[in-house]
Amino acid sequence: MAFIIFPCIFFIQILATCSLSEAKVSAVIAFGDSFVDSGNNNYIPTLAKSNFEPYGRDFPGGTPTGRFCDGRLQPDFISEGFGLKPIIPAYLDPTFSISDFATGVSFGSASTGYDNATADLLKVIPLWKEVEYYKEYQTKLRAYLGDRMANRVISDALYLINLGTNDFILNYFSVPLRKLEFTVQQYEDFLVGIAENFVKQIYSLGARKLSMISLLPLGCFPVERAMNIGNPLNCLEERNKAALEFNGKLKAMVAKLNKYLPGLKVFFADAYELLLQLITRPSEYGKYYSYLKFMSVQHIFDVLLSITVTIDDRVTGFEVVEKGCCGTGLVETAVLCNRHTPFTCPDANKYVFWDSIHPSQRANKIVADELLPRLRQVFL
Ligand SMILES: *[C@@H]1O[C@H](CO)[C@@H](O)[C@H](O)[C@H]1NC(C)=O
Repeated sequence: MAFIIFPCIFFIQILATCSLSEAKVSAVIAFGDSFVDSGNNNYIPTLAKSNFEPYGRDFPGGTPTGRFCDGRLQPDFISEGFGLKPIIPAYLDPTFSISDFATGVSFGSASTGYDNATADLLKVIPLWKEVEYYKEYQTKLRAYLGDRMANRVISDALYLINLGTNDFILNYFSVPLRKLEFTVQQYEDFLVGIAENFVKQIYSLGARKLSMISLLPLGCFPVERAMNIGNPLNCLEERNKAALEFNGKLKAMVAKLNKYLPGLKVFFADAYELLLQLITRPSEYGKYYSYLKFMSVQHIFDVLLSITVTIDDRVTGFEVVEKGCCGTGLVETAVLCNRHTPFTCPDANKYVFWDSIHPSQRANKIVADELLPRLRQVFL
């Protein structure tokens, strides 16, 4: 019997693998800020760079790439989760070409926002310019694949849009510019208006599958906690409130566009709560916690036994949430987080944040793993 069953199982696995590679997501294409920038800022004159150690020390090969992280970013994990490549290249990186970009590319630029004025602060790529690059990409893609195939890639690609963080933490709450013009609610509306126009614009260029990522609990970023004078190292609730309000408005806009633009599917990827869970219940993210939840009683005994033998740092979940791993963890990001920065932690896997603003690779992976089944459900 085993002789017959074995090849059948083998055959079924091949079928499963085939249908996976025929998945209807052709490429992962990212627009946005440092949460998706895989190195574009390396090629422009700005202080918003991270292509030096200790950035990238947990990236494959241990190399800094310009990602604001110790390792990979969410789009990298999402691409891998769709059976595409595990690394999304940066559009401006000359070591990649259109043959690489055909299955995934990032137009992201660290420190940019929906608001042009945000990109101006550190002279990074404004959103309209990311769209210009995207148009240029389409031209190259058509030359490379021919119109028919290129159009298919464009309409079957999953577009990840991650913006807004810098509009609040770098711009609105930090410099006396937009704050003099807008109340925080007015600014939220202003940003959501830009987001809506942006979606309509890439829709008119052929994009159909979009994932708009919510703001994270900004007030709990270490850099924001560091500014909480009245309540040291606690989350700045005012900023979490702005993020939640903005997310509500973004979600409503997404629902509206889903209704009125034929063929468009926008998924509102609410990562606010996902990251907040990591921050408020860090110890529950141990390796074995998730196993235990799904196991029957007799298996729990075996697992507990193996825990006692193989206990290591990661089993315990996250240990630090108020500070990033780099330096003091409260202010260091970009050029301030470098090879000479003292106090950088030895193991970023214990930290929800890698630097004072950006989640660690491990946090990125956990959030991506939570989003992936929902994305598959909507887009496959
Ligand atoms: C941002 O700048 C571009 C280029 O100057 C302009 O076309 C666009 O209208 C501006 N966006 C907003 C919302 O002002």
